[in-house]
Amino acid sequence: MSTAGIHAGWDAAADGHGALTPPIHTASAYAQPSHAALKALFQRRADGFAYSRSGNPTTAVLEERITALEQGIGAIAVASGQAATTIALCALAAPGGHVVASSRLYGGTTEFLDDTLADFGVTCTVVDPWDLGAWEAAFTDSTRAAIVESIANPGAELVDLPALSAIAHERDVPVVVDSTLASPALYRPGEHGADVVVHSATKYLCGHGTTIAGLIVDTGRFDPRRCPDRWSRLTTPNRRFGVTFADDYARGGSGLLAYARAKYVTDFGTTLPASSAQQILVGIETLDLRMQRISEDAAALASRLHGRPGVAHVAHPTLPGRPDAHLAERDFPHGTSGVFSIELEGGEAAAAAFCDALRLWTIAVNIGDARSLVCHPATTTHSHLTDAQREACGVRPGTVRLSVGLEDREDLWADLEAGLAAARSGSEVTTAA
Ligand SMILES: Cc1ncc(COP(=O)(O)O)c(C=O)c1O
Repeated sequence: MSTAGIHAGWDAAADGHGALTPPIHTASAYAQPSHAALKALFQRRADGFAYSRSGNPTTAVLEERITALEQGIGAIAVASGQAATTIALCALAAPGGHVVASSRLYGGTTEFLDDTLADFGVTCTVVDPWDLGAWEAAFTDSTRAAIVESIANPGAELVDLPALSAIAHERDVPVVVDSTLASPALYRPGEHGADVVVHSATKYLCGHGTTIAGLIVDTGRFDPRRCPDRWSRLTTPNRRFGVTFADDYARGGSGLLAYARAKYVTDFGTTLPASSAQQILVGIETLDLRMQRISEDAAALASRLHGRPGVAHVAHPTLPGRPDAHLAERDFPHGTSGVFSIELEGGEAAAAAFCDALRLWTIAVNIGDARSLVCHPATTTHSHLTDAQREACGVRPGTVRLSVGLEDREDLWADLEAGLAAARSGSEVTTAA
């Protein structure tokens, strides 16, 4: 992991100048040696770069690196984590398919499923991924994808991916795993049954809050040729592109990603800028180290917060009573990331007093930064959901999401204690009022 994080996808010796880190290729288009060469690129008879909207040498290094880290067969870098989910689900389920979705997803994903993906005629059944019976019952003949987060945002709930995948695979339905919180440093979904992995690379892969980016990885499990009629968009000649995308599997490539890139990345224009790809590549170099330290600090802070006056609940998989504690032990030996949530007694007023009193933790709607961040999901990341949707993912008025950064653990704790004191007096003031 540490070695691939630094070297995969880039060979300085093969670069004309010996650049140790991948250069940022800003060109929009690439000169071709002949008319025939450009024609071959458009006919998909040759590999190469024609126009940066659909591919670029710098983003290609990032794609190779994440493929190596996830041990998949290919990847596409896109403009954001949201674009990664959008493209993965459109490629599998649009138009008119059905998706089985975890009730514990990032708010933006739930909104996308509920609203924009529905505009493409895709229906969705939302289930608690801890309820395997409900998960099994949700599949229909039109189900084309299932989606879960390996570590859910914001309550850090873990999924039993081998069990969920077995149910989906019995019906030949591919499983998409948003592994943003875990990153490949903590968990490789492909080893546990995932067919497609999506990342908001904006978070831990970047690691420093500088860049929005997304990644889609094909783990190599999904093969549309097993059900050619169901996946005819991949298994029959495509009128527009003149190829059968599933033929790529015979060459060790991903027909699904080739289709997603040719159609959705190109049509939606969700291109990742080369400069952003380079930022993510730099971030990945230290991913392994950061994830170990952040996961340890988060578990330690969660355990100190557990049972403190004014704290009704701490949502972290290592704490007593969590039904996913065995999954933390079995599948996450290196930790469960730096994101978890706490529920304060006193609802939104207590949460607001807590956040406002913090000096080191910054109020911001991001996670995975080197800086520790805090936010109130009910009024921000999950504010457009219904009360029932919020309840289903454990977001209540007193819930505060914490994203532990790389500052000193004792400094972070001192600040949290100040926040808790303010929350207690904040909620007392509200109760008195
Ligand atoms: C788990 C998860 N998936 C996807 C996204 C969307 O990523 P982006 O903001 O890079 O579009 C987020 C953003 O917070 C997230 O937390």
